[in-house]
Amino acid sequence: MVPTDATAVAQPNIALVKYWGKRDTALNLPATGSISITLDDLRTRTRVRFSPGLGADSLTLNGAAAPEKLPRITAVLDLLRAQAGTTRFADVQSTNDFPTGAGLASSASGFAALVVAADAALGLHLPPERLSEFARRGSGSAARSVFGGFVEMARGERPDGSDAVAAPLLAATEWPLAVVVAVTSDAAKSTSSGAGMELSRRTSPLYDAWTASSTAALAEARAAIERRDFAALADISEHSSTTMHAVMLSSRPALIYWNGATVECLHLIRRLRETSGVATFSTVDAGPQVKAVCLPEDAARVADALREVPGVLYVRTTRLGPGARLIDPLNDTGGAT
Ligand code: DP6
Repeated sequence: MVPTDATAVAQPNIALVKYWGKRDTALNLPATGSISITLDDLRTRTRVRFSPGLGADSLTLNGAAAPEKLPRITAVLDLLRAQAGTTRFADVQSTNDFPTGAGLASSASGFAALVVAADAALGLHLPPERLSEFARRGSGSAARSVFGGFVEMARGERPDGSDAVAAPLLAATEWPLAVVVAVTSDAAKSTSSGAGMELSRRTSPLYDAWTASSTAALAEARAAIERRDFAALADISEHSSTTMHAVMLSSRPALIYWNGATVECLHLIRRLRETSGVATFSTVDAGPQVKAVCLPEDAARVADALREVPGVLYVRTTRLGPGARLIDPLNDTGGAT
């Protein structure tokens, strides 16, 4: 075990065909597959240092100790420690250059960066699909941020979850889209995705129909991506997002992740597409932020329009980017493209 210290960078991903429901909570196995795009310039940077001198794992998140998040981190590190045959504890330091826990998928980039850094720090060199599996144990969507561009996460069939892993569909450069993120609140979300999914599974009368519709939605999205058919991808992606929110809203008590500005943004994006002919579509996760996927040449126009919506705090525009990767912390900013 020579290297004990490594730093990785990862970006959040945005699901186009959504994951909302688990078939096993202990192993964090999804009830359905999902398809996502990995973003480029919202970044998580994580340093993991294993040391024989530490008495426990520790986590510093955005410069402050975050003990409440440690159990999930330790559970993922335990998987990697078992592979390496070590019991050494780790010091984890992670920073996000975007709001944490507010529906911008900070857990996806966080756990993807964690497994890539820990794998290197332990000298393991595990294949990407194993890193994806371990990232999934931290957060389902994190399995996708191990890879760049368009990514599909498999539901998997095996009880041990070894086939519930993500795989790349298309590199970011093969269909360079842009995403405009309209941030309508910087507050952390009220109900975590994991708790929300369990509530939906137990109480939403729409839950079974939602999971049953996933195979067809995945096939539709996969075909649209293969053909680079923006209109078809827009149609299935918006449908997946609004259907997931119907499941959330029909949970008991209702999960209402949207605020008023969220709804105004959804109307605006639809107007831009239907009356102004701009190729764009919306997608929303477990929070009030709206992501408008568009062609790069339309990104400035979409951003300008979203910025004008009352309640939008700010917008961020990003291209699609690479998967989680190691960096040299002294002279690398994460491979900005
Ligand atoms: C709405 O991956 O955050 O963003 O596995 O419990 O950590 P856990 O959930 P998480 O859920 C993501 C839900 C979503 C849709 C998606 O990204 O597919």
